[in-house]
Amino acid sequence: MLAGLGASVIGAAGGCATEKPTLILPTGPGVLSSDFSSTRPRPAGQKPVNTLTTAPIEKVRVAVIGLSRGMTHVHTCLGIEFAEVVAVCDLRDDRAQKAAADVEKKYGKRPAVYSGTENIWEQMAARDDIDAVYIATPWNWHVPMGLGAMSHGKHAFIEVAAALTIDDCWKLVDASERLQRHCVMLENCCYGENELFVLNLARQGVFGELTHAECAYIHDLRSMLFSLGTEGDWRRNFHWEYNGNLYPTHGLGPVAQYLGVGRGDQFKHIVSMSSPEMSLTHFRDTTKPNGGRHANEKYICGDMNTSLIKTELGRTIMVQHDVVSPRPYSRINCLYGTEAVFFDYPARFSVNRPKEYGLDANDTEDWLSDKDLQTMRDKFTHPLWKKLQERAKGGGHGGMDFVMSWRLLDCIRRGATPDSVVYDAAAWSSIIETSVHSVANNSALVNIPDFTRGLWKTMTPLGIAEA
Ligand SMILES: NC(=O)c1ccc[n+]([C@@H]2O[C@H](COP(=O)([O-])OP(=O)(O)OC[C@H]3O[C@@H](n4cnc5c(N)ncnc54)[C@H](O)[C@@H]3O)[C@@H](O)[C@H]2O)c1
Repeated sequence: MLAGLGASVIGAAGGCATEKPTLILPTGPGVLSSDFSSTRPRPAGQKPVNTLTTAPIEKVRVAVIGLSRGMTHVHTCLGIEFAEVVAVCDLRDDRAQKAAADVEKKYGKRPAVYSGTENIWEQMAARDDIDAVYIATPWNWHVPMGLGAMSHGKHAFIEVAAALTIDDCWKLVDASERLQRHCVMLENCCYGENELFVLNLARQGVFGELTHAECAYIHDLRSMLFSLGTEGDWRRNFHWEYNGNLYPTHGLGPVAQYLGVGRGDQFKHIVSMSSPEMSLTHFRDTTKPNGGRHANEKYICGDMNTSLIKTELGRTIMVQHDVVSPRPYSRINCLYGTEAVFFDYPARFSVNRPKEYGLDANDTEDWLSDKDLQTMRDKFTHPLWKKLQERAKGGGHGGMDFVMSWRLLDCIRRGATPDSVVYDAAAWSSIIETSVHSVANNSALVNIPDFTRGLWKTMTPLGIAEA
């Protein structure tokens, strides 16, 4: 925690039976106290979940809360033969009824519908015919709903970011360990075609020793942030409350998996700085959205936030966040090793001794030609992508949403440990609060807790390559 700073409750959609998430709001330069991001001891009676297996089941019975983004999860599950959507929930009855109608059309049977009040999801979570709950609600609801789902014996699949604060990250870790339920963050970008390609290249040793990665969430969301009745209604709040990386996991999740973070390496500390806040204010003032009703809002989140993370093995990761500049989308998605370098947007690759891979290139002076890159794709496209790409076509976000849910539900069906567990959800999400604290303290070094409590030293790298 920062010394001498006031507390601020993130604007929630109202009261909740479960404790609400809070984020200590830095109001100026302060001194980082030693316990803010220290690793907390495992409470007695809790067991690690890194190898948690569960009883195999024929069909995974799912419920979905939050039926905007959550509609993608409903439709994806309807297309997976070993999934069954048994209940849907949204504050808005029209959304819940629409989802229920889509489910009924597919199964000829109506799912249970919960709507109308903000705590009605708790009744749904208490049902005894649900194995896993997808949580696709505004950020402040992720932790109460995740804890609620697990406390009723369900696996919690939580949208990004899983939690906003370090405290809440620990709550998810402790609940998953205490209740022995999976708590998985729905980081779909880990299942993109290029991300799986790079992961496979890294696992096959093509990069040699890994040294550095760069990633980002760069997405011009200016119009959406002022769009009424959408994510903009609540997401813009964060731009006047916090200055840091508000949405780190789409970029960070995949590169953390390349580097084996949590599995042989671990985040150690972060330094972060933000550019001035200009673009959201400029957009608001020049376009006067919604009849000028936002004229008095004072945004503080710098347009571009850049953070550097150091890992226990000494590697470095650059993470950026910018949702307000006028430019095309990028997650950067870059990996450096002693033998090769990959950059995305667009995909570029260079590798030592290209002839050994049957390529036309002679050296690493230029990026590989399209033809050579295709040769590498032919050799190293990830088996999971190869297996599912036809079925994923037309699915959300270029197919990655389908691949993610198929893989996750397949693990649950077989009783296997999912590719990412609560320690990954916590580590990737923890960059929100640690970056805010670093920015507020002249880019001071902030320790990142080890949510695995030392398990990273012996955990084996992700076994995703065996599709
Ligand atoms: N992984 C991705 O690619 C991706 C894409 C979009 C959104 N998201 C994430 O999904 C989540 C939802 O985003 P969105 O764009 O759908 O937001 P949204 O505001 O459009 O929709 C949220 C939905 O949740 C409902 N809701 C709010 N409080 C509720 C409550 N207490 N009980 C039941 N329903 C409630 C709202 O009525 C609304 O229908 C966010 O965490 C966001 O970051 C992820």
